[in-house]
Amino acid sequence: MTPGVRPLVAGNWKMNGLSAALGEIQAMREAVDQGAAGLAELAVCPPATLLAPAAARLAGGALALGAQDCHAQPSGAFTGDISAPMLKDIGCAYVIVGHSERRAGHAETDAQVRAKAEAAIRAGLTAIVCVGETHEEREAGREAEIVGGQVKASLPSVASALTLVVAYEPIWAIGTGVTPTAANVAEMHGAIRGWLVGLYGEAGASVRILYGGSVKASNAKEFLGLPNVDGALVGGASLKASDFVAIAATYA
Ligand code: PGA
Repeated sequence: MTPGVRPLVAGNWKMNGLSAALGEIQAMREAVDQGAAGLAELAVCPPATLLAPAAARLAGGALALGAQDCHAQPSGAFTGDISAPMLKDIGCAYVIVGHSERRAGHAETDAQVRAKAEAAIRAGLTAIVCVGETHEEREAGREAEIVGGQVKASLPSVASALTLVVAYEPIWAIGTGVTPTAANVAEMHGAIRGWLVGLYGEAGASVRILYGGSVKASNAKEFLGLPNVDGALVGGASLKASDFVAIAATYA
């Protein structure tokens, strides 16, 4: 945790969820409105097809809505893409950009991720920018070099705690059930904090840094209490309201 910073627990549903799953979002909203996340902010990022109906269910409540990607342009001839102003228009507060699955599966570069993050901020959204090393890179002792390079090349040129969240997600920990040690996470988050202060000055001291990769209720406490760990980005364990709320309850 960073003193004075409100933690964020964000759920990334990835390409999961049909209309029937809206009941889980409804249940999350009810739990959050009853105080289940304590001081923490909770956000859910369902697939694009569920954003509008989810927004209708979340109106007036404390559970925030986020998307999983956006285009760098506000509109135009980009078949199949969704812009940041469109996401803002339907009620999103957050958008994840640069997730490793998009960097790998859609060949997104640091420059593209930065452009998306800047587009998100221009539209009034908070960008959750993901960074993280592969298993091979960590084995080679290159994790700080890789993540530092991503931070410097994919974060927006201007940002504050209101417009930017960074998610450290070691790729080898995503969806594998394998996690880094608490010491590894604390070390990387400390390094990211230093880079953020280098980039943004005082504002960088309160940009939230989330840990992501196989977070579940049983290991959340271990990570969420670490210095410079200001919340979590949760994949698999965010699909069911009970699992997701149990993680957020670490802050209750
Ligand atoms: P996981 O995914 O929690 O299922 O490991 C995290 C993520 O990819 O954001």
